[in-house]
Amino acid sequence: MASSSSTHTSSHDRRIEPLTSATSDGTYPAARSRRIVPPNGGLATNSFDERAATWDDDPTKRERARLAAARLRASVDLHPDTRLLEYGAGTGLLTEQLRPHVGHTTLAEPSSGMRDVLNAKVADGRLAGADILDLDLSRDAPPASRHDLIVALMVLHHIPDLTPVLAGFATLLTDGGTLCVIDLEEEDGSFHDPGFDGHDGFARDWLTERLAVAGFDPPRFEPCGQVNKHGRDYELFLATCSLAEAPR
Ligand SMILES: C[S@@+](CC[C@H](N)C(=O)[O-])C[C@H]1O[C@@H](n2cnc3c(N)ncnc32)[C@H](O)[C@@H]1O
Repeated sequence: MASSSSTHTSSHDRRIEPLTSATSDGTYPAARSRRIVPPNGGLATNSFDERAATWDDDPTKRERARLAAARLRASVDLHPDTRLLEYGAGTGLLTEQLRPHVGHTTLAEPSSGMRDVLNAKVADGRLAGADILDLDLSRDAPPASRHDLIVALMVLHHIPDLTPVLAGFATLLTDGGTLCVIDLEEEDGSFHDPGFDGHDGFARDWLTERLAVAGFDPPRFEPCGQVNKHGRDYELFLATCSLAEAPR
């Protein structure tokens, strides 16, 4: 796991490359158009750092988490001993919804600003007893913990190379455990601004193939609401899957 040092851009960096305000997908237009690698080694978590303190003020984000939790609960049996890992948890909005229905919770998040909010919620009781990890499986080895349920809400489309991340999920899941991905259906690229180097949503077949490479059975896909942006609706899916049984 990486250290929990801040990923904020320094004032020196800003002088060389003046950064305008973050865009809605969490990167800086100047940095993206000129392909500047952020000082944190490539992750655009610096803008998530800056957006973390006001993330929960947006009612659409709270509503998205509420709807995702409702769909997830309808799709997966949750128990008081279910060990939950939320990956790319942001401020933990989804876990806040799921906590009354599960056991021990862990929230993994590489943005230090987001982790500050998570730690504040642990302290004030909204996420009491939860473990907060600085974890990015595209750069870090999976920790030793094991989880019955891994959830990721609007995270995977931000990660260019999903191979190590999905392999990490396979390692972190218990036998019979469940992975739930809530993310954008394939879109025309208009969701993010030009230069975004993540995924323009996911074609279901493509994601199914990537999951299979990591050892997962074909997911069950279902609609999971929409995100309204730029005056239009973008569809979300919930994909639920388990690890395929190893051949005997
Ligand atoms: C669009 S936000 C979603 C946050 C939260 N899941 C929610 O729905 O409110 C994407 C989150 O993914 C995190 N993220 C970006 N790249 C990541 C990576 N490689 N591994 C884990 N998390 C990542 C960001 O720091 C950010 O908190």
